[in-house]
Amino acid sequence: MKKAAKLLFCLNLLILTVLAFKVLTVRLMEIKEEGRLISTQSDNVKAEPAAEDSQKKKVALTFDDGPDPEYTKKLLDGLKERDVKATFFLLGKQVALYPDVVKKMHKEGHVIGNHSYDHVNLATLSATDAENQIKKTNELLHQITGEYPEYLRPPFGNEPKESASAKDMITVLWNVDPLDWCCGSSSKIVSKVVKDVEENDIILLHDASESSVKAALAIVDQLKKDGYEFVTVEEILFE
Ligand code: NI
Repeated sequence: MKKAAKLLFCLNLLILTVLAFKVLTVRLMEIKEEGRLISTQSDNVKAEPAAEDSQKKKVALTFDDGPDPEYTKKLLDGLKERDVKATFFLLGKQVALYPDVVKKMHKEGHVIGNHSYDHVNLATLSATDAENQIKKTNELLHQITGEYPEYLRPPFGNEPKESASAKDMITVLWNVDPLDWCCGSSSKIVSKVVKDVEENDIILLHDASESSVKAALAIVDQLKKDGYEFVTVEEILFE
């Protein structure tokens, strides 16, 4: 009897041990499975945007000679609808006439640069005159936006021989020029840009006519479809 009880006790102990082991194994497998699921999920969350960013080619739209009271506003509205930021190189004489357009441009997050006061060839001016062209425009922009512009696009791409203000600024030229101000219909401007553009290019346009504004917005729509992302010039120059 004593022997039988001992045997029964041992058997119970064995059964309990086996059961406990089974429960533990199942739980361990569950933990492992949960861990795998969690890590797979977090891998997905991290991987998707990175892959998307790296696939997009950067390009910058720049607009010279504004602001224009009619066309710049139309352009700004079109860019806002498309969530695109651009860079504007403004003429001091236009800024003085249309400060509200400059305020809107600044408020909507575009980068504002200097394109001289009177659209003159700075290389042919005396040091004093060239400095005046740049400084006067910088001061005016500062009064309106609260910020001094960092970028200078000298008219015709000709830098001044000497100017203290220009020395403190970064000169920004361009890679793609469809001559939109000259003679093209908007569809010709679009096809020239779409044909010529490459990653990290800076496109030159002017926000001073209906055809340029129409072309600019069509360029945005087409290049977005072609895998481009629109950025301001600083992202092209420094990233
Ligand atoms: Ni110009």
